[in-house]
Order: sequence, then structure tokens, then C-alpha cells
Amino acid sequence: MRLFSALACAIGAGLVAAQQQQVLTVSPTVAKKSQFGLCAFIENNINSATDGGIYAELIRNRAFQEGGTSSNVGTGTLAYWNATGGAKLTLTKASPLSQALPQSVLVSGNSSTSGFLGLRNSGFFGIPVRAHRYTVVFYARANSAAQTTFKASLTNSAGDKVFASATKLVSLTGQWQKVEMQIDSTTQDNARDNAFALEMAKGTSPVVQLNFISLFPPTWKGTTARADLAQAIADLKPVYFRLPGGNSLEGNNIAERFTWSKAVGDVITRPGRKGTWVGWDTDGYSLHEAYKLFSQMGAQPILGVFAGYTLDQKAVPQSQLQPYVDEVANQIHYLLDPQGSSALAKQREQDGQPEPWKLPYVQIGNEDWLSEVGKTTYDQYRLDAFSKDITTATSSKGNVKLIASSPYVSPKSRLPDVDQHDYNTPDNFIRRWSERDSWARNNTGVHELEFAVINTGKCQGSLYSNACRLKYPTLIGAVAEATFMMGLERNGDITPSAAYAPLFHNVASVQWTPDLIAFDSQGLVKSTSYYTQWAFGNNRIDGIHTVKSSAPAGPLYWSVGTSTDNAYIIKLTNVDGSAHPITVQLDGGLGFSSTTTGTLWQLSGTDKEANNDLSKPNNVLPTTRALAPSDFGAGRTLKLTLPPNSFTVVRLPAGADSPK
Ligand SMILES: *[C@@H]1O[C@H](CO)[C@@H](O)[C@H](O)[C@H]1NC(C)=O
Ligand SMILES: *[C@@H]1O[C@H](CO)[C@@H](O)[C@H](O)[C@H]1NC(C)=O
Ligand SMILES: *[C@@H]1O[C@H](CO)[C@@H](O)[C@H](O)[C@H]1NC(C)=O
Repeated sequence: MRLFSALACAIGAGLVAAQQQQVLTVSPTVAKKSQFGLCAFIENNINSATDGGIYAELIRNRAFQEGGTSSNVGTGTLAYWNATGGAKLTLTKASPLSQALPQSVLVSGNSSTSGFLGLRNSGFFGIPVRAHRYTVVFYARANSAAQTTFKASLTNSAGDKVFASATKLVSLTGQWQKVEMQIDSTTQDNARDNAFALEMAKGTSPVVQLNFISLFPPTWKGTTARADLAQAIADLKPVYFRLPGGNSLEGNNIAERFTWSKAVGDVITRPGRKGTWVGWDTDGYSLHEAYKLFSQMGAQPILGVFAGYTLDQKAVPQSQLQPYVDEVANQIHYLLDPQGSSALAKQREQDGQPEPWKLPYVQIGNEDWLSEVGKTTYDQYRLDAFSKDITTATSSKGNVKLIASSPYVSPKSRLPDVDQHDYNTPDNFIRRWSERDSWARNNTGVHELEFAVINTGKCQGSLYSNACRLKYPTLIGAVAEATFMMGLERNGDITPSAAYAPLFHNVASVQWTPDLIAFDSQGLVKSTSYYTQWAFGNNRIDGIHTVKSSAPAGPLYWSVGTSTDNAYIIKLTNVDGSAHPITVQLDGGLGFSSTTTGTLWQLSGTDKEANNDLSKPNNVLPTTRALAPSDFGAGRTLKLTLPPNSFTVVRLPAGADSPK
């Protein structure tokens, strides 16, 4: 293929000339409105994206629920904890802190000696030691009343080096009490296996019972979110966020499904459940935590609701479905009922969310098409049962649209919208730039709430498991995703939203690659694909403009629109390994005004398989520059050379066009 086109270039001068002069002629008026908005989707649990990721809790197994191995997850263990100072640690179910958190630890030891004894936690792959304030929360009781000095410290893994600590004298009784402390650290230590210790002065300590031992660093804008990860998402300027899930919504089985009522309220009332991808899911980062986080970014929820299908490929039989339908109706009332108008609204207020949610979309289920049982039962009775009920529950609650968990190939005509997911190769994504041009314009919005280039496409066998599966997003993957997204954007009248997935990749706990943002306990790296998402989120179009091209699409692709403030936004990709010139001109006797200030943002490189990771975070970075008079040609047309493997966004502010 390559050889052939090189030959064609050498002998077919006319062909080269035609390609070199590719001219895009842009209509200066808006052809149709776009509703397309970028969606951010944190998949719970996968790659330790929530616990151990966006949820800033630093203590792993804070309530002694998680097991150390997959076989004892949920049985309750002291995994990730060690005794200090000769303490004896015993798990007990006596005098539980809450029904949700039945296990607690008894700390006993030789109280006649001096010093401290207690327990030490290794965190999620190490506790980061930084110069800032840490907030410690734990619950304690003792069978006999006593005054005890507690000491909380940041230590090395052996516990023989203390970076920062704080003490507090507490009067213990037989009642559980919540104890809060602050550790003001002035130290930064970059070891990746540092720890946290909670101890009691030996001379004073009776047998102390502890549970829910929590440690938070400063978080993002008053949320429970890890600051650097939250900021990286905020910078994408998402319009929507999808939650919870995806697989976490379904759960491993019916008992471990997402149950909304167990995932709201005080965190000590949330039992958590076995993770669908790894370890334990505390549900500490759940509905309201996500809502609070994303509302501050200006994004609105696409709420997935449990629809009677679990990952063990079992669907609740029709005759037993009603309780699950009622559960979802209650969830909708809980989230949307006006303040004070119902018991559920009052519960929401108690849970710290007085205002009803702004909820543009409810999605029924998750990937119900992936198994025969899922597909059949969804079509036969589940979708109908849930959609009827949600429609009733949401009536008079604003314009809540429903999304069927169903790809475009079989859209449910009864629902306004569907959602399809695509994980594929660069070639596949590039090919699909024009896919939606011919789709029906009949009010069926087709969301794309999970997509990513996951494989180079150069190997035989399954894209999911062959040797060409990507570990990190590549440059050509990011350019292919941009090409695909330009197709979504150009068809923004029928494409309400799209979400790259998954967002997070904790390098110490990986079950799925590639992902948008890789991180460890200390920092993060933005992938090539991150920059593509950034460019779409920061250059959203409101009006789609028609483009006539002098040559067919490929290897150059485009999307042209105007923003709400009337800036021209011209997105261009070159998926070829050589540079190609392109001319963009306005129709209707107009020209771009070369005197106005415009900007050019660009991601490109000669090595199309290049990627960013923690060892080389700045390997592929976008550049931004002001447009110069030399970017314009005769008749005030934009004349650019698109570099190899590139995604370019040109932004020309309002008033950038004028009569020639
Ligand atoms: C407690 O520690 C002291 C001092 O090391 C020791 O003499 C005593 O035997 C210890 N008691 C117990 C019960 O271990
Ligand atoms: C706990 O003990 C194990 C085994 O000695 C050790 O590998 C680990 O680093 C210790 N962790 C902490 C936080 O003390
Ligand atoms: C919209 O068009 C698609 C594809 O032709 C069709 O399957 C679907 O049923 C239509 N939806 C409505 C609401 O008419």
C-alpha cells in the first residue's frame, strides 16, 4: 500500500498536484446546530481508578473489609495493616461501628511500658508524603473508660522514620466516637512505599477498638477528589459526566450490583462491595461525590441505573423485576424531588445535597448487548419496564431524556437516545469519519459513551488480547480518535455526547489499557489521547458549517464550525506519515481577515507509535502559536501545511471573516 502510493507520487504528477492543492471551501453560515458535548467517564474500580485513584482516601482497607487476595476479598482482613510497638491486633465483630462496617480491630499490648503501639497502613501503593495538611479521621471505643493519647504519623515503610506526626488526648468510653486530627507536614519524601501509623501511648492504653481509619490530603476544591487527577479532568472542560460504572453498575452478581441506597449518606453507612475489576469497592466515591466534583467543572450527569442484569450473565426474570424497577424509581425521586417535598428529598438533604440534581440523561443499564441473555431480556421486557417507570418518576422534573444501552445497529425506536461503545484500531476510527453522515435524522441521538483506539491493528487475532494491544495511547491513536470525533462533531445534530474510556490507569493496579491518564501515588501523565480530548473540550462548536472539498477525504480530514461566541473553529487531521498542504477558504465572497488574532494548536510527530508514560511524560506534547500573516494566502485564505500524523485546531475569533 505504501509502496504503491510512493510509486503513484513519483509517476503521477497530476495526482500529486491535485492532492497538494486540496482546498476546503467553507460555507460562512451555520448549516445546523450541534448538540455535541464532551463527556468524562470515570469507570469505577477499573485500574483502581476510584478507590486508590480519584477518591483521595489514602488508607487502603480502612474498615477491615477488603481481603488481601482475590479469594478473601470481602471476608474482612487486616490486609495492608501491620502492628507497631508490639501491639496485638485482633479483628472482631463485637460492638460493630455500623451495620455496614461490621469488622473492627482490637488493639492490645503491654501497657506498663512507655512509647506507642498501634497499627500501620501501606496505603494504595504507598502514602505520598508532602508538605501540607493531612486530615485524619477514625472511630474509637474502649470497654473501660480511659484517657488515651493518640498519635498519627507519616512514616517510612519500616516505621523507624517519622516525617510528620500529631497527637491528641481522647477520653474513650464504651460508645464509638469520631476522632479528627490534623497532621501538618513540612516534609516531602518521594519514596513510593511510605506509610501511615495510628498509635496510642502505651502507659495509658486499655484495649482500644478502632474502625474506619481514614487519611486525606488536601483535595480538589472542597471535594473528596485527588487534586491533580481532578484538575486534569477539569481542564478537559467536560459538558457531561457519566456515572456510575460501567461494569460497576452491573456488579459481579445481584448482591454486588450498584445499589444507590447503599452508596449515599455517611460513609460509615456504606457497606461497599467486591470490585468488578479488582479488590474492594468502598463506594466512598459515589453519586454525590461525583456530582459535587463534576458540577464544579460545569458538567451535568448522564446517570446509569441498574437494569436487572449482572456480569455473571444473569438477568432478573420478568416476574421478579418489580423490586428493582421500584428501586430505580426511588433513586429518581431521591435525586430529583423538590427540596422538602418527599421523604426521599429530605433524605437527600440530610445526605448533604439539598438541591435536586440537574439531570439531563438517564441511561438504562450498561452494555446490555454484550451477551445473548442481556440482549434478549433487555429487548423483551427490561427496557420497557424501566423506561416506563423512569418516565413516570421524571415527569414534571424537567427534560430528562432516556438513553437505551443499545448500539446504533438496533436502536430502540421507543427511546429518544441510544449509546454505543467502540474499542478499535486507528484505521477503523479513521474510516468512520463519515459514518454518521448517512444516518437517519429522526431524533434518535446516538451517544458514544465509551471509545478508544486500543490496538495498532497490525496483529492477527482478538484486538483485546493479541500482541498489538496498546499499553498507552499512541500519537496515531490520538489522531485517529480526533478524526473519528470530527465525524461525531460534524454530525452533532444526532450525536449528543462522547466519552473516551477508561480515563484512569493506576500504574500499580492495571486491568485495562490504554487509558487517558496514567498515574501513581505521586503524580500523573497525560497521554496523547488526553490532548485530543482537551482540544475538543476547549474548542466546542455550536454551529456546524458545510465544507466542500476539492478532493475526497483521506489522508486529510476536517470539521469546521463556529462557537457560541462566533469564533471559527477549524479542526484538521493528517493521518499520513508525510506532510500535506491544505487551503481553507470561505465561500460567499468572504475572506479570513489576516489582521485578527487567531491561534493554531497542534499535536504531531514523525513517530506515529510514540506515547507518553511516567518515564517520558513529555514525549508528545501539543504546541500552540498565534497565526501569522504567512499562514494566509491570496484572497485571504488559510494556507497550512499539515505535518505528519497530526491533529490541528485553528481558532479564528469572531469577526475573522469579511468581504474580499
Ligand atoms: C511488659 O513490659 C515490661 C517491661 O518490658 C515487662 O517487664 C513485663 O513482663 C511485660 N508484661 C507482659 C505481660 O508482657
Ligand atoms: C508490613 O509488613 C510486611 C512484612 O514484614 C512488610 O513487607 C511491609 O512493608 C509492612 N508494611 C507496613 C506499612 O508496615
Ligand atoms: C431512527 O432511524 C433508525 C435507523 O433507520 C431506526 O432504526 C429507528 O427506529 C428510528 N427511530 C425512530 C424514533 O424513528
